[in-house]
Amino acid sequence: MMHSTTTATCTAAERVVVESFLGGGDHKTLADDVLDGLTRPFKELPPKHFYDAHGAELFDQICDLPEYYPTRCERAILTDRSAEIVALTGAAELVELGSGTAAKTRLLLAAMHEAGTLERYVPIDVTESMVRASARRLVEEFDGLHVHGIVGDFERHLEHVPPPIAGKPRIVAFLGGTIGNFTPGSRRRYLRSLAQLIGPDDFLLFGTDLVKDPKIIEAAYDDSAGVTAAFNRNVLTVVNRELDANFVPESFDHVAFFDRDREWIEMRLRAQRPQRVLVGKLGLRLTFAAGEELRTEISAKFTPERIRGDLAAAGMELVDSLTDEDGLFALNLARIRA
Ligand code: SAH
Ligand code: TRP
Repeated sequence: MMHSTTTATCTAAERVVVESFLGGGDHKTLADDVLDGLTRPFKELPPKHFYDAHGAELFDQICDLPEYYPTRCERAILTDRSAEIVALTGAAELVELGSGTAAKTRLLLAAMHEAGTLERYVPIDVTESMVRASARRLVEEFDGLHVHGIVGDFERHLEHVPPPIAGKPRIVAFLGGTIGNFTPGSRRRYLRSLAQLIGPDDFLLFGTDLVKDPKIIEAAYDDSAGVTAAFNRNVLTVVNRELDANFVPESFDHVAFFDRDREWIEMRLRAQRPQRVLVGKLGLRLTFAAGEELRTEISAKFTPERIRGDLAAAGMELVDSLTDEDGLFALNLARIRA
């Protein structure tokens, strides 16, 4: 591969490629999602629309909140175990779905660098500013690293992930518990599509938040500083801006509750009073009854059985499941079933 021998002579800037697949009419499918989701009897929007530049910044703040334990726990696991993960996989390449700021990813890249195997990082995220900024930062930080950034939808654009570096194993990482944002059937369908990306020598590394006391979970999604509420409402600001709508975000309350039967937390926006909304670009008129709720995200919590069951349904098997010392969060390493 062209990457392996020429690295030492490339400047940092020459080691970055960023491709965008969210141009023009394909803009994150927001219009279609609004048309589908907001005309349903129970209104709903997919979570990827939270993350415009402002939403990404708010999410960053969420990660630093005392109540939001998943980031801290996953970072602790990566701090302690990255070297082990890298030794076990021998990975030369890291492909990351929903990479965001790649703050925790740096721990894995550092371990690969340390082991002398690091060649390429392929971040995929819908937020262009995040992909570009992290790519620039990481090539500066890791000598010889190539970054092939993909600004795209990890559900629709997996085909644009470059082929593996010949003969070298890769890790496909899905951190932060983002896999929990799929409903259960879609989650298995998605794992199956990831299995297509994973060769016999490759690994899937994915974070899962674990089932625990609902009070701990609910606090993580409804912090006292109101950052999560602002993040949730931001999706309405995105719809206003992109589709010329006139939502009044302040007139919706943030709701987060743990569904004990389904074992997921659900985020909703609840209309404080009856409202009419016009989505200008779609010529769509919406009404909300007082107290009517719009579902903006689910975040599934896992048990070891759920993790194994999902993997099995996708033709994969668990190699190891690493948890933080309080057992709140798990980082799972899986491969194609032998
Ligand atoms: N991996 C980071 C960020 C998690 S937040 C961490 O662990 O902290 C979820 C990330 O996934 C955000 O950066 C968001 O922009 C991205 N994202 C959400 N839905 C996406 C989709 N369908 N395609 C690509 N990226 C998506
Ligand atoms: N993927 C993150 C999670 O499920 C996203 C997230 C954190 C989130 N806090 C939120 C989404 C609040 C909506 C509202 O943990």
